[in-house]
Amino acid sequence: MKKGFIFDLDGVIVDTAKYHYLAWKKLANELGFEFTTAQNELFKGVSRKRCLDILLNDIGKIDYTQEQFDTWMIEKNLDYLAFIKNMDASEILPDVPKILEFLKEESIPIALGSASKNAQPILEKVGLLHYFDTIVDGNNVTKAKPDPEVFLLAAKQLGVNADNCIVFEDAVAGIQAANAAQMTSIGIGNKNVLNESQFNFTDFTQISTDFIKNLIEN
Ligand code: G6P
Ligand code: MG
Repeated sequence: MKKGFIFDLDGVIVDTAKYHYLAWKKLANELGFEFTTAQNELFKGVSRKRCLDILLNDIGKIDYTQEQFDTWMIEKNLDYLAFIKNMDASEILPDVPKILEFLKEESIPIALGSASKNAQPILEKVGLLHYFDTIVDGNNVTKAKPDPEVFLLAAKQLGVNADNCIVFEDAVAGIQAANAAQMTSIGIGNKNVLNESQFNFTDFTQISTDFIKNLIEN
């Protein structure tokens, strides 16, 4: 039975949440409001447009035009791009390359399944792009996680049945998307938050190659 592995990007491969936070905080401050790390937590796995909807709703801003909304989206992204400009391999989360390398040695197909529209350039910057057989990101899907679209498309592009795919995710919406796609869901992060995941690890240092081998073989 052919298996496929699908990785989320932000919070699984690299910790970009801190850069998203800085960019959203800058925009919120310009609008005269605070933006907290707790609010940023709720933005994990959520599309850029949906994040802005939530931010504007939280600060009670309703008097804006579509043009203004689009300008804020562009501004947030330009700031985010400036923050990630100098990202390099040092920002890869611990032991991620070890797992990618093991999967490659076992000839297991690997996909990225991310809500971000900046996924490919980030993988290039940190030098991990070559591990991925396909990239499905915010540019390829219309329905955001928890909808399973991103993972189902990744499985299709890998040529692997959805129920033979294993997903690594750090966001609740991402775990829900993986479960909805009938995939094996592995939460990376706090197990109390990711309590819908089938397996949970604080980070990849806790995942052994034996565990991965077992997923491949069973
Ligand atoms: C990931 C992050 C979210 C981010 C989304 C869109 O899912 O966890 O915090 O909002 O991607 O990212 P983008 O790079 O397209 O703005
Ligand atoms: Mg994530």
